[in-house]
Amino acid sequence: MTTEADYKPGLEDVPAAKSAVSFLDGKKAVLEYRGIPVEVLAKESCFEEVSWLLIKGDLPTQKQLADFDHDLRQKRAIHFRLKDLIRCMPPDGHPMDALHAGVSALGMFYPCPTVSDPAKNWDASCRILAALPTLVAAFARVRRGEEIIDPRPDLDLAANFYYMLFGKEPSPATRKVLDACLVLHAEHTMNASTFTARVTGSTLANPYHVIGAAIGSLSGPLHGGANEEALRQLEEIGAPDNVKPWLDAKRAADAKYKVMGIGHRVYKVKDARATVLQEIAEHMFAETARPKNYETALELERVCAGIYGPKGIYPNVDFYSGVVYQALGIPTDVFTPIFAIGRTAGWLAHWNEQLVGNRIFRPEQISTGKTGVKYVPLEQRA
Ligand code: ACO
Repeated sequence: MTTEADYKPGLEDVPAAKSAVSFLDGKKAVLEYRGIPVEVLAKESCFEEVSWLLIKGDLPTQKQLADFDHDLRQKRAIHFRLKDLIRCMPPDGHPMDALHAGVSALGMFYPCPTVSDPAKNWDASCRILAALPTLVAAFARVRRGEEIIDPRPDLDLAANFYYMLFGKEPSPATRKVLDACLVLHAEHTMNASTFTARVTGSTLANPYHVIGAAIGSLSGPLHGGANEEALRQLEEIGAPDNVKPWLDAKRAADAKYKVMGIGHRVYKVKDARATVLQEIAEHMFAETARPKNYETALELERVCAGIYGPKGIYPNVDFYSGVVYQALGIPTDVFTPIFAIGRTAGWLAHWNEQLVGNRIFRPEQISTGKTGVKYVPLEQRA
């Protein structure tokens, strides 16, 4: 019998699975995908290569990468009826909701009803990885009253995504920033959305449901949705000089006020990905005037370090990602869908891992409700 003493809210420190996909040391800011530091991958690899690494377990050979890349390029286009579906979605709907609906529909057009055949699972994984950017870009355009742009097979995943979003090719520097952001978001051990993916996968649900469930989990403001909130927060603050009075006022109104983009269940130092994203931002803004939001973010980090640093609360991945995406011209509510495009690689890697020796998740609960209650017929209830 499970007792109150066994209960850990939020499953803190409770291992939910054995996994070889990634490694995280939150005290030393170490994050490795299949043993390789994320900083190295963000610099040296492209998202396609990292996706293979995460799902297959090792870096691909040149031939493996070329074949995989070719397959992804073939699978980017979506069925015309799926485009019609996206055209019918409410333009003021959130892009994460559109993505959630889109990935479910994708599973109806390109089904993978059972998960017992690894070749079919791999095929569906490639389909999902390839089509997610198309779904995100299609809805982003439709709601602006613009036509959907079909994918271009001569561009890599990051460049093609940018092209489908804006109708023009990115500069090499912009392509690299977007690609590095996808790499940085691709995997992060047993976070809420990855756990969701594994729980859903453990029921032998199809991969579209696995990814759809994870997308729903990622959408929350305590998880992936924090990048949108972090940017809105910078806009609310308005300027570096306002940081301290803004934070003082928030804390006076609510002693437990949560600053968006800082804090993490595992990290007790600055998130390795936040450091890389800040370097990317520094590089992007080296030749131009620094945007006010970036100056405000730097000051917010400084002020928060004094207040929350002693508790081990520092910037997480969402602190600087919004500033970077905004500088690329990406609408705020498309930040989390981009996070989802990247994290799909990690979700799929965990799904594959879960299926090996699968056991359905079925945890316990501490029951706090009544028991043995006598049923009172409706007409006798006061
Ligand atoms: N601002 C101020 N204080 C904070 C913050 C924050 N962002 N995060 C944690 N704390 C404080 C809490 O008030 C609490 O203080 P207490 O011990 O005095 O009560 C203590 O730190 C522990 O906080 P919990 O919320 O219990 O920590 P938990 O591990 O459950 O939550 C979380 C982690 C959800 C990320 C939290 O830090 C948070 O809400 N951060 C803001 C949202 C955010 O940036 N989310 C993105 C996370 S990264 C990702 O998902 C991609």
